[in-house]
Amino acid sequence: MIILKNERDLEAMRPACTVAGSVLNDVAAWIKPGMTTKEIDAYAATRIKHYGGKSAFLGYRKYPCQICISVNDQVVHGLAGARRVEFGDIISLDVGVVYNGFIGDTARTVPVGGCSVLAQRLMDVTEKSLQEGIAQAVPGKRVVDISRAIQTYVESNGFSVVREFVGHGVGRSMHEEPQVPNFVDGKSSPKLRPGMTLAIEPMVNAGSAGVKILNDGWTVVTQDGSLSAHFEHTVLITESEPEILTWPERTPSKLKVQ
Ligand code: MF3
Ligand code: CO
Ligand code: CO
Repeated sequence: MIILKNERDLEAMRPACTVAGSVLNDVAAWIKPGMTTKEIDAYAATRIKHYGGKSAFLGYRKYPCQICISVNDQVVHGLAGARRVEFGDIISLDVGVVYNGFIGDTARTVPVGGCSVLAQRLMDVTEKSLQEGIAQAVPGKRVVDISRAIQTYVESNGFSVVREFVGHGVGRSMHEEPQVPNFVDGKSSPKLRPGMTLAIEPMVNAGSAGVKILNDGWTVVTQDGSLSAHFEHTVLITESEPEILTWPERTPSKLKVQ
């Protein structure tokens, strides 16, 4: 069942998404060569707390970290630890926060200091594919129109989309219906309606699409060792243009619904 959000829900959910975007922004700006991923995760915890939120990931299916930090060939769900990020690495940061009883879910891949031309192109193509997907998020279209736009853009640029992990509805729960694949899967696809809130999140590999899960039970890496990037926004379907909910904002004290 797809849960449509009414204006009252959105009054609470918009700030949750703004907090997620702000935390992501803060963490991305803070990363420097030599930091451990554990330190980055701990900093994320302080930013989530600063805005009055809670991590939506910590404890979710026993996930042990505040945010997901995935380095280079790690696709998603990387675990924070003793690894130091180095100049030239690309880091996928995925932030989910609970605030006002709702969840905001957003991700971005950033370079540490600088990166290779290939890595930059991978990030650019992935981010642009997210925008192409969001442009389809209008009433009357179907979820598959989002999927097709993302897949077409990514593949026409010579990269591949991950199949095993997909976008999703989001609201009071992190993973609601419908699934939002980043490829055309040939299954029946729901019509988009005002009030739907979707986490659209292309995961794009520089090489082939295959992924595997490491022995830690969480970290997803590319099978061929190629780089991977991940961009995600929580998006509201309106009567007209899609509304991207997970932009950062700098007036957090006004966000909490009384
Ligand atoms: N944020 C991820 C998503 O975009 C889910 C992370 S689940 C976790 O759907 F347990 F790994 F945190
Ligand atoms: Co996410
Ligand atoms: Co998500």
